[in-house]
Amino acid sequence: MFSRIARPAAHGLIRGLSTTAQANARVAVLGASGGIGQPLSLLLKNSPLISNLALYDIAHTPGVAADLSHIETRAKVTGYLGAEQLPESLKGADVVVIPAGVPRKPGMTRDDLFNTNASIVATLTEACAKHCPEAMICIIANPVNSTIPITSEVFKKHGVYNPNRIFGVTTLDIVRANTFVAELKGLDPARVNVPVIGGHAGKTIIPLISQSTPKVEFPQDQLAVLIGRIQEAGTEVVKAKAGAGSATLSMAYAGARFVFSLLDAMNGKEGVIECSFVRSEETESPYFSTPLLLGKNGIEKNLGLGKLTAYEEKLISEAMAELKGSIKKGEEFIKNRK
Ligand SMILES: NC(=O)c1ccc[n+]([C@@H]2O[C@H](COP(=O)([O-])OP(=O)(O)OC[C@H]3O[C@@H](n4cnc5c(N)ncnc54)[C@H](O)[C@@H]3O)[C@@H](O)[C@H]2O)c1
Repeated sequence: MFSRIARPAAHGLIRGLSTTAQANARVAVLGASGGIGQPLSLLLKNSPLISNLALYDIAHTPGVAADLSHIETRAKVTGYLGAEQLPESLKGADVVVIPAGVPRKPGMTRDDLFNTNASIVATLTEACAKHCPEAMICIIANPVNSTIPITSEVFKKHGVYNPNRIFGVTTLDIVRANTFVAELKGLDPARVNVPVIGGHAGKTIIPLISQSTPKVEFPQDQLAVLIGRIQEAGTEVVKAKAGAGSATLSMAYAGARFVFSLLDAMNGKEGVIECSFVRSEETESPYFSTPLLLGKNGIEKNLGLGKLTAYEEKLISEAMAELKGSIKKGEEFIKNRK
């Protein structure tokens, strides 16, 4: 049996580490020239799991692709520029990762990005629904609590919806939780696993410290500070970057970790588990992040909430109104879109 929150091997983050037999995935990155897109593409190019890397953006992809193509790994890199090249970039894609869209500036919430990013994500996922309806779709663009319902509604509109293949990438919340817990307890962060459930914005980010492996305990006041830091860690970076954007390098790492886990599972590796914001029946919210067992066809099994403390239950119930509001906003956006 797999451990419920087994830490995935970060295949491809170190060259030549993969042990998987089949390694011929075609991965498309939409928004590949951006602050996240470039380092994410670099990490993907370094992976032996990927044979073709398609880089799409509305700017700079010829340069980014030429640069990455000189790296001595086998993934063939191709750049695609502008809307007319979008369909070609998606042909045959097994996995599509979408970091396209504007990032936060100090003082902004993720929801403040809605007006710009909702239409970017809708346009890009409409192209995915037409040109690679079977691909795994991994959405990084914020607000994730709305961009996943948007993606789902777009796929429904095109009659190709498969909820097991649409993922909101929340991995950075898990990465941060692991790091902060390890710092406080003097542990090796690579050995810490903290499931983070709920959504990907402020108080909808719910770290389950009680389910951490190894098991850790904190007095209630310290626990509240730790959870608050994990929830506001994105804002910590936005403030430190002082107008130059939000997390890009740690997000690229987290995005690559999620893609490698997905590719491992698609290649038949067993026991691959990641948290992700997906269609869900685990709570009253129609979308919710929980640990998921991944397989050849995406989500194989939702592993649910596990055993919660009363405090964690309270955090979930306090997040519900915001979560459901953001989901509805995304769904309404597609209903009203011409
Ligand atoms: N899920 C998470 O945990 C997480 C973490 C950090 C950032 N983000 C989000 O990721 C997104 C990207 O952040 P960034 O820092 O890379 O931003 P950025 O501005 O540096 O890059 C965005 C890229 O998207 C491209 N783009 C814009 N419109 C496009 C379109 N229609 N088609 C294709 N490409 C398009 C831009 O040209 C640019 O290259 C933001 O929405 C940000 O909020 C998510």
